[in-house]
Amino acid sequence: MDVSIRNVRKEFDRFPALHNVSLDIHSGELIALLGPSGSGKTTLLRLIAGLETPTDGSIYFGPEDASLKSVQERNVGFVFQHYALFRHMTVAENIGFGLKVRKGNDRPPNEQIRKRALELLDLVQLSGLENRYPNQLSGGQRQRVALARAMAIEPRVLLLDEPFGALDAQVRRELRRWLREIHDTTGHTTVFVTHDQEEALELADRVVVMSQGRIEQVGTADDAYDRPNSPFVYGFIGDSSTLPVRVENGEIWLADRTVGLQVNDVPDGNASLYFRPHDITLLDGCGGCIAGTVATSRRVAGTRRVELEVGGSQHRVEIELPIEHVAAERSRIAFRPTRWKVFPDAQDSTA
Ligand SMILES: Nc1ncnc2c1ncn2[C@@H]1O[C@H](COP(=O)(O)OP(=O)(O)O)[C@@H](O)[C@H]1O
Ligand SMILES: [Mg+2]
Repeated sequence: MDVSIRNVRKEFDRFPALHNVSLDIHSGELIALLGPSGSGKTTLLRLIAGLETPTDGSIYFGPEDASLKSVQERNVGFVFQHYALFRHMTVAENIGFGLKVRKGNDRPPNEQIRKRALELLDLVQLSGLENRYPNQLSGGQRQRVALARAMAIEPRVLLLDEPFGALDAQVRRELRRWLREIHDTTGHTTVFVTHDQEEALELADRVVVMSQGRIEQVGTADDAYDRPNSPFVYGFIGDSSTLPVRVENGEIWLADRTVGLQVNDVPDGNASLYFRPHDITLLDGCGGCIAGTVATSRRVAGTRRVELEVGGSQHRVEIELPIEHVAAERSRIAFRPTRWKVFPDAQDSTA
């Protein structure tokens, strides 16, 4: 089911939790909402579900305006971080619950509900545990049951709010791969909320990076990592280095030296240069480069991470070098970013 969020604003007692948010979720895709705590991820998810109503704007499920529909009518499946299973129900009863509470002709016969529960249990790789109670399961197993329960109603959209947030790192990684496999099998349109960039980048077809009630960027993991479109995304995803620069006639200057990079879409004036530590090339001489003095150098797995002082001790940037590079302390290194971006200072993020 395509879901289209159109100019949605959400206020709680005049506090804007979401500004003007628009997003098209494609049928069958697994999309991750990624952002720090308080950025509006859960609010957006609850709006899609119908647990909240937008202050402004609308939400479409396919061609129909779902803004006016109830949670039940939207037929969405949910998993939350602490969405406790019903303690007094077995695993099979938990999974079948959403079908069992249906009314009239919509309610399948008992044996069919049980059959569906067992199929789903098989899908989430917990066959044989149907008669257990939730307190007889591990945390990871419980979240698998929660997902099976969410899928039992054949939801038009699956909404997962930090479903692995309470589990330890090892289990999280396993469940991440497992969820991706399930998604590839079932093809549910899925919205996955997380504040963990690794989880989002590994799991999702597309990542929606959020900050302070706004969408900063929508794209694939490669887009977010290789082509960040704001200082926030540079800082939030992966490692980045930044330097204060000046733009003059499209030429980038660092203090009294040109960096050897040109821009054509940034106005003259003060700006900030961003790049990833590994997106650089070393230079011998410096007729247009960034030069610095090695402050620290450490080996990180297969590469060398070097911190350079640039312009006296005023600014520090991190660059990544081949392990063979000695990078002796206090030695001079000249480089130029290969992939980078310049953002004008005092840029209004609401623009
Ligand atoms: N029911 C509510 N009443 C008042 N403020 C809320 C409510 N729900 C969320 N907020 C506020 O909206 C902002 C976004 O919250 P939320 O969507 O939960 O963020 P996230 O899930 O990204 O951590 C936060 O500042 C939060 O305090
Ligand atoms: Mg949240």
